[in-house]
Amino acid sequence: MYATRPEARPATVEVSVDGVAVMVPVGASAAAAVLLAGAAAIRETAVSGAPRLPYCMMGVCFDCLAEVDGAPNVQACMVTVAAGMRIARQAGARDALLGEAPR
Ligand code: FES
Repeated sequence: MYATRPEARPATVEVSVDGVAVMVPVGASAAAAVLLAGAAAIRETAVSGAPRLPYCMMGVCFDCLAEVDGAPNVQACMVTVAAGMRIARQAGARDALLGEAPR
């Protein structure tokens, strides 16, 4: 019904979400990119494997934990997108949480 005038549209950057290119407004969060991509989930819980998507968008719920540019366990809602950013789903506990046994 209403359309945004082309000159009023925000500039965008291209990121990838699980390997799929997504155009995201400059200044948006990586979690917003996940939602814009229409992903079914961005992480699965370590205990039950239940799917999760970003929920609070303000750093409280941790349902947006994802791998961002190769770094696991990043709160995607607290990261501003940058051109070429790679956001990927993570499943279960990450290596950083499991760690190696002390020697
Ligand atoms: S969406 Fe809740 S901490 Fe990121």
